[in-house]
Amino acid sequence: MARWLTVWRAAQIVGVPRGVLQQRVRSGELELADGLVSTDTLLRLYPQCRLEESGLLERVTQIREEAFGRRLRERILPSQEVLAQRLLRQSQELLDVQRHLQRYHALVIDLRERLRASAAEAGASDVRPAELLRRLNDGLARALATEPVDMLDVMDDMLKVVSAQVTLRPSGHQFTVEGRDTLLQAAVRAGLNLNYGCGNGSCGLCKVRVIAGDVTRTMPSDYPLSENEKAQGYVLACAHTAASSELTLETLEAESAEDIPLQTVVTSVRAVRPLAPDTLALHLQTPRSQRLRFLAGQSLALAFADDDASTLQPIASCPCDDRNLHFFVPRRADDAFAARLFGGGVKPGDTVTVHGPHGRFVLAEGTQPLVFAACDTGFAPIKSLIEHALSLEAAPSLALYWLATRPDGHFLENQCRAWSEALDPFEYTLLADDDAGAGATRMAAAMRADLFDIDCAFYVAGPAAFVRTLRAELVAAGVPVARISGEELS
Ligand code: FES
Repeated sequence: MARWLTVWRAAQIVGVPRGVLQQRVRSGELELADGLVSTDTLLRLYPQCRLEESGLLERVTQIREEAFGRRLRERILPSQEVLAQRLLRQSQELLDVQRHLQRYHALVIDLRERLRASAAEAGASDVRPAELLRRLNDGLARALATEPVDMLDVMDDMLKVVSAQVTLRPSGHQFTVEGRDTLLQAAVRAGLNLNYGCGNGSCGLCKVRVIAGDVTRTMPSDYPLSENEKAQGYVLACAHTAASSELTLETLEAESAEDIPLQTVVTSVRAVRPLAPDTLALHLQTPRSQRLRFLAGQSLALAFADDDASTLQPIASCPCDDRNLHFFVPRRADDAFAARLFGGGVKPGDTVTVHGPHGRFVLAEGTQPLVFAACDTGFAPIKSLIEHALSLEAAPSLALYWLATRPDGHFLENQCRAWSEALDPFEYTLLADDDAGAGATRMAAAMRADLFDIDCAFYVAGPAAFVRTLRAELVAAGVPVARISGEELS
C-alpha cells in the first residue's frame, strides 16, 4: 500500500537534491497530493530503491550495500540522549498502533463468532449470515497475509531516528536536523535565514516557538526567557535540538537584505595565500561568541585596526559557515588595504574589523534553474551564491560561466571541476577574453539557447562593462529583466 512522504524526506531517501524532485513535479512525472509524494510513484521513478523480494534479515543485509545504507552510515549520529528520546517516541507510536490493532482484531473475532452463531441458527432459511461470514473470513485472510516489507517505509522509519525534519511557520520552509546540530545550526546549514545573534544562548534573538513536536536542550543559556514565553513554548534555537522526528516551529526569517542588521565584528586573520599573481585568498574568522550574519552574495567593508585603509569586498563563502569568512582580493593600484595584503605585512592572528553586510545581490526564493556568470574576481559573490544554492537544494540545475580577462583569471578552476564531478545538476564553462565587454558578448553566445527559453534566474557579477553588456545580451535574447540580477564590482 502506498505511503505518503514530504518531498524533503523523499529526496533524502532516494538521494537526490530536493530541486530534482520539484522539477519532476513541475514536469508532471511526479504527482503531489497535499504537498506529499506517493511511495508508489517514487519507486516507479527510482526503482533502485526497491530491493529483491526476500526475508527481512536478508533485506537489511542488502541495504548495507545500497547507496542509502552508505549515506546512513556516513551520517554523524545525534547524541545518545536525543537518539533515546526519538526511539522512545517512535516506540510509543508503535505501541499505540499495536493497541489499536489488537482492539480491532478482538472486535472482528467477536463479530465472526456472532455471525457463525447466527448462520447456524438461520440454517437454510436465511443465507445472509453465512454469506457475511464467508466475506469476513476472506477479508481476514487477506488482511493477515504476510506482505513484503516496503523498503521505503523502512528507510523512512530509520531516517526518522537519525535525523529530524523541521517545518517553519509561517514560511513553510523545511530543513533536517542531522547529527549533533542545534536547531539554529541545522537551519543555517540548510541555507535558511533565521533571526539570530550570538549563537551561544546569551542574546535571545534566536527565540522560536514550538508548535508541534519535542525539543531538548543541548547547552545551558544565559538569556532568561520569561515564564510567559516558556508557557507559550518559546525556546532558544541555538541551545536546543529536535527530540522528536518531526517538529514545527514558528519563527521570523529574513526575507531580504534589509532584514539583516549591520554588524561590526573584530575578526582574526587565519590565512592569506596567493591564488594567482594578482589575486589573494583572505580567510578571516570571527570570535566564537560573535558570528557574522549575512546573505550569500553580500559584501563587507574590511579595515585594519591601525590603518584608515579599508576596502569593500564580496564574501566568497557561504552564510552556512558564519564564523569563517573568505575573500578573493584583487591587486588594485587604488586599494591600500589590498596593497598591504600583497606587500606581505599581514600574518595569521592579525586583526581585521569587518562592517556590514552590504548589498542586495542575493538569491531570490524559488525553485527555478540557476545560471551564474562571473568575470575575474566576480567569482567571489558567485561562489557564495552557488554554495548557498547547494545548501538550499531547491534548484534543479546550476550552470556557471566564468570569464577571465587575465591569463591567471580562473584561479579556482579546481573548485568548478569538483562541483561538476560531485553534482549531477552542475555544469560550468570557462571563457577568456582581454576585454570584459567583448567577453560578455562571447559568453552570451556560448550559453545554451534553451537557458533563455526556460524559466532560469541569472546572476551576473564582475566589472561594470561585463555586467552591463551581458545583461543587454540576455535581454536581447528574450530573458525578462526581472530574472537578471547584477553586481557591478569596482
Ligand atoms: S543566537 Fe543569541 S541566544 Fe541564540
